[in-house]
Amino acid sequence: MKRRIFIDTDTASDDAVALLMAFEHFESSLVGIGVVAGNVPLQQGVQNAMFVRDLVNMLTPVYAGASEPIARPLETAQNVHGQDGMGDIGLPIGQNFANQGHAVDALIDAADRYSGSLELVTLGPLTNIALAISEKPEIVHQIKRCFIMGGTSDNIGNVTPFSEFNMWVDPEAADIVFRSCLRKVMIGWDISRKYAVINDEEAQILRSLGTEKARVAVDSQKVLRQFCEQETGIDGFDLPDPIAMSVVFSDEAVIRSIASSVRISLEDGSKRGMTIIDHRDNADHEKTTVIVLECNRQYFMDKLIQSLR
Ligand code: RIB
Ligand code: CA
Repeated sequence: MKRRIFIDTDTASDDAVALLMAFEHFESSLVGIGVVAGNVPLQQGVQNAMFVRDLVNMLTPVYAGASEPIARPLETAQNVHGQDGMGDIGLPIGQNFANQGHAVDALIDAADRYSGSLELVTLGPLTNIALAISEKPEIVHQIKRCFIMGGTSDNIGNVTPFSEFNMWVDPEAADIVFRSCLRKVMIGWDISRKYAVINDEEAQILRSLGTEKARVAVDSQKVLRQFCEQETGIDGFDLPDPIAMSVVFSDEAVIRSIASSVRISLEDGSKRGMTIIDHRDNADHEKTTVIVLECNRQYFMDKLIQSLR
């Protein structure tokens, strides 16, 4: 049966590679792209998503969504991905117009149209998803599965010692989503750190594929590379959204996972947005989240290369 995929993204350099992978793998199964403020302000995220879409001559509709978190001021990651989110390398990112309609309404419409079969992929803060659930609670039954890039399964964070960026930006939204009975698959930043680091030699091999897609995919990580070297100590750059996208493609990407209950810390300070995971069989809450614990790097790399050729 044909899959129906809707992606919600805060389009910066790693999201862009995940979108390239999705366009190549899903083609017309990709029914829509919603944009949310996160890595960059909303309109920049919209322009970046449309730049990537136009790079591969796709017509997938792109919808602008929430311009700020539910209950907190927006804090971007332009220090990580660049002011334009795409490495500040001067890419010809235009001033296009997004498709008519809000991303939340587009998601609700898609869930109605493909009720029971729509699969949702989130690559940014969960603001749009939380707004959709608040507006139409039954959407959690219409969406077959929601793949979430975010959180960590080992509480080693990238924005505080414990918290991952997507959950940290909008903890209230993440709380709504994880408390809901939406069937979730969580691919945390631990997976990126362990299985999706691209070192400088591998980056050059990717770039030598010689396509414009490959050049953009590698060169747009310029600021992220610097951030990794100076802040996270990663030897290269890591690609959290792309490895999460490989999990969406196939169970072949997953070596080990566990069903759990996940809650989000709404504290301020270092535990803001921390994913609190309860693996216990007698967990107080229903286990609606499958947490990916180990991934197949070779499968991920094969799909990454295939999408950039
Ligand atoms: O923590 C990594 C996540 O935050 C990725 O989705 C990256 O694009 C940023 O949104
Ligand atoms: Ca992202």
